[in-house]
Amino acid sequence: MPVVLSGGIGSRLWPLSRAHYPKQFLPLASEQPMLADAVTRVHGAEFSAPIVVCSHEHRFMVAEALRKTGVTAGRLVLEPAGRSTAPAAAVGALIAQAENSDAVILIMPSDHLIADKAAFRDAVLSGLEAAIDNAIVTFGVIPNRAETGYGYIQRGRRINNHRSVHIVDRFVEKPDRATAERFVSSGEFLWNSGIFLCSARSFLAELATFEPDALAAAQAALDHAKPDLDFIRLDAESFAAAPSISVDKAVMERTRRAVVVPMSIGWNDVGSWNALWEISQHDPEGNTLMGDVIALDTRESYIRSEGGPLVVSLGLDNALVVATDDAVLVTTQAHAQSVGQIVDRLKTLD
Ligand code: GDD
Ligand code: MG
Repeated sequence: MPVVLSGGIGSRLWPLSRAHYPKQFLPLASEQPMLADAVTRVHGAEFSAPIVVCSHEHRFMVAEALRKTGVTAGRLVLEPAGRSTAPAAAVGALIAQAENSDAVILIMPSDHLIADKAAFRDAVLSGLEAAIDNAIVTFGVIPNRAETGYGYIQRGRRINNHRSVHIVDRFVEKPDRATAERFVSSGEFLWNSGIFLCSARSFLAELATFEPDALAAAQAALDHAKPDLDFIRLDAESFAAAPSISVDKAVMERTRRAVVVPMSIGWNDVGSWNALWEISQHDPEGNTLMGDVIALDTRESYIRSEGGPLVVSLGLDNALVVATDDAVLVTTQAHAQSVGQIVDRLKTLD
């Protein structure tokens, strides 16, 4: 049963991604919103209808994105306020378990690009047996740089003769640069794709051990939830008591049940402007130019005007320039991961 998490605000894609209109609702990787890509990816006989957990504020955008795909959500759960991914996933797991005590859930982000859908399904099926046996299955991507925005998985011994499933020796969420460099050059680590397959029972048991407050708050928020049209509206007061903590920190860094399926599926989390530059078409100078843009003597740059003014660059290398009608970002590829800081700064000015 897919549990699709759609609560992030994609702050590193500012100024295009905004709190009220974040990344998963933008058509960044295809013609449709990324959330629509995510739910269609798990539509079919092997999967039941997805549980989508999203912010109350985004409920109509989510409903609309789903309607366009023709996928009916099993449940649409509304968070009064985001508490990061662990409480959201806990709510999904509790709903799945109430329906079927042996439910296996696929916790998925709503805002990634997966180019090879068939290979993705194969990877999920490879992990199924381990998930039924109460392992928590992660899906690892071969790293090509010392990215600090990802979790790292140290691949241990192989546990399945037929499929490539390995014990996780260590899981480190978002290491610093020196550590990331060490991990990548060791050749022993994979990036965590942020997708998890496990029995609802197993996930909830680990949460009960490591973050009991998150589990208790999720349970209380669900117990006191109000059905509202097609939505399940979580109880605000109960959910606010949950610590704000990710699945990666709450469970994956601590559990001994983690295994990893390495996969090669054309995965990209499209998390930053430089990730977007990477997956886009480049002109002979290595530039991606979108909208009303002219680039002179410019190389390896991503320049986009989205309803913004004419943007002209001259003599720039490795630049990121994104103009909208009310804000313009000017930075370098090297600073792509820090764009979220701008949003934090802007919040202090509100
Ligand atoms: N419902 C809900 N509520 N969803 C949330 C919330 C929340 O409070 N916060 C984030 N999400 C959703 C996001 O929309 C996204 O689809 C997914 O959960 C993951 O959250 P991110 O905030 O994008 O996580 P990350 O990118 O920093 O890190 C995770 O993904 C990386 C791969 O992209 C981790 O799992 C890393 O280990 C991993 O490498
Ligand atoms: Mg992300």
